[in-house]
Amino acid sequence: MTHISITSVPVPAGLAGPDAVDFLAVAELLNAQQQEFWGNNDFYAPPQAQLAGRGSTPTRRRELLAARMGTEPDAAIIGVAQLNLPLTDNLHTGTVNVVVAPVARRQGVGTALFAAAAKLASAAGRRMLMAETDHLGGGPAGTGEDSSGTENAAAFIPHDAAAAFAAGLGFRLELVDRVSVLELEGYDAEAVLGQAARTAGPGYELEFWRGACPEELVDAYARLRQKMSTDAPLGGLELAEEAWDAERVREAEGKARGMDAEVLVTAVRHVATGELAGHTVLEVFRNNPAVAYQDDTLVLDAHRGNRLGMLLKAANLEKLRKAIPEACRVYTWNAEENRYMLAINEQLGFAAVGYSGEWQADLSAG
Ligand SMILES: CC(C)(COP(=O)(O)OP(=O)(O)OC[C@H]1O[C@@H](n2cnc3c(N)ncnc32)[C@H](O)[C@@H]1OP(=O)(O)O)[C@@H](O)C(=O)NCCC(=O)NCCS
Repeated sequence: MTHISITSVPVPAGLAGPDAVDFLAVAELLNAQQQEFWGNNDFYAPPQAQLAGRGSTPTRRRELLAARMGTEPDAAIIGVAQLNLPLTDNLHTGTVNVVVAPVARRQGVGTALFAAAAKLASAAGRRMLMAETDHLGGGPAGTGEDSSGTENAAAFIPHDAAAAFAAGLGFRLELVDRVSVLELEGYDAEAVLGQAARTAGPGYELEFWRGACPEELVDAYARLRQKMSTDAPLGGLELAEEAWDAERVREAEGKARGMDAEVLVTAVRHVATGELAGHTVLEVFRNNPAVAYQDDTLVLDAHRGNRLGMLLKAANLEKLRKAIPEACRVYTWNAEENRYMLAINEQLGFAAVGYSGEWQADLSAG
């Protein structure tokens, strides 16, 4: 059997020098896999954006591992593992993503990359590894079945290479996200927006920002971001609440700017208390403004049942249409057990295109 070499790929300062060669090869391999999977360029990330997004920050250590056949240092890179280690919370966890070039699959490259990533994670004191697998089409879309149990969840995930690979490495499927797309051509959220605003009533006001959160709201916004980390369903994932403060909000905004991403946030304020009661986030990368990605949507417990979720999402979609008229579609991920969020999205017109499996492996289990 051919020897597989695994080396660490540092994130270079820029893309022009000889030290960027491996990073560029990794960026290309990751883009090729996204293209292969989706059959389009909706998830293409220019190398410059990957450079801005793949470096370590005060809240996250990011490692890139590359695989080559043989021991020649300049042999072509045929596989990549990305390892993310949170540094301010969830110190028992890490997230791993393994991608192998089609020509090199089924030869143990993925397994070798995973083993190297798991070794790094263990050395950093991590006990639980999380991984995500993507699947187009797949299970019983839109049936409204409860998928909260692992067995039910498994019904949504086809037994393809990604699932077989994860299961074979000892990962357990803990949560299933439905991937949905909203087509924006001719789209008009005004009617649902008006209806939600009437139900919410005058006790709530909307705030909107593009890019940086206004300074007077940043602490309240950090609290919402923190709450979001555990308020969305987590299935069996052993994740604790993230630690967010104003500095982390600014770090995330800086990363988005570096990646040339537009971030549109709508938040809702409870007029009587002045408290921010919820928020929703859309992201668009300037290199491909046709595609928008839905990030967080949260309404705090005390304010649920007032149509604020719909109000926030419809309002932000209207902002998107005005701010970035080139946007043609929006991708979103929602836990299949998150009936409230799915109901809002279905009413807005989102349609399922696939599923994501969220997996967890206990490294201490052997
Ligand atoms: C999933 C992926 C990383 C596997 O890489 P690989 O180098 O082919 O994996 P390995 O050769 O180490 O395979 C390990 C085991 O995974 C399972 N497996 C991998 N590909 C499979 C396939 N096409 N069908 C069924 N089982 C498969 C098998 O159990 C295999 O062991 P075996 O070959 O002894 O039967 C690769 O297919 C890939 O890059 N897919 C796209 C990205 C992706 O889905 N990544 C997973 C995120 S964690």
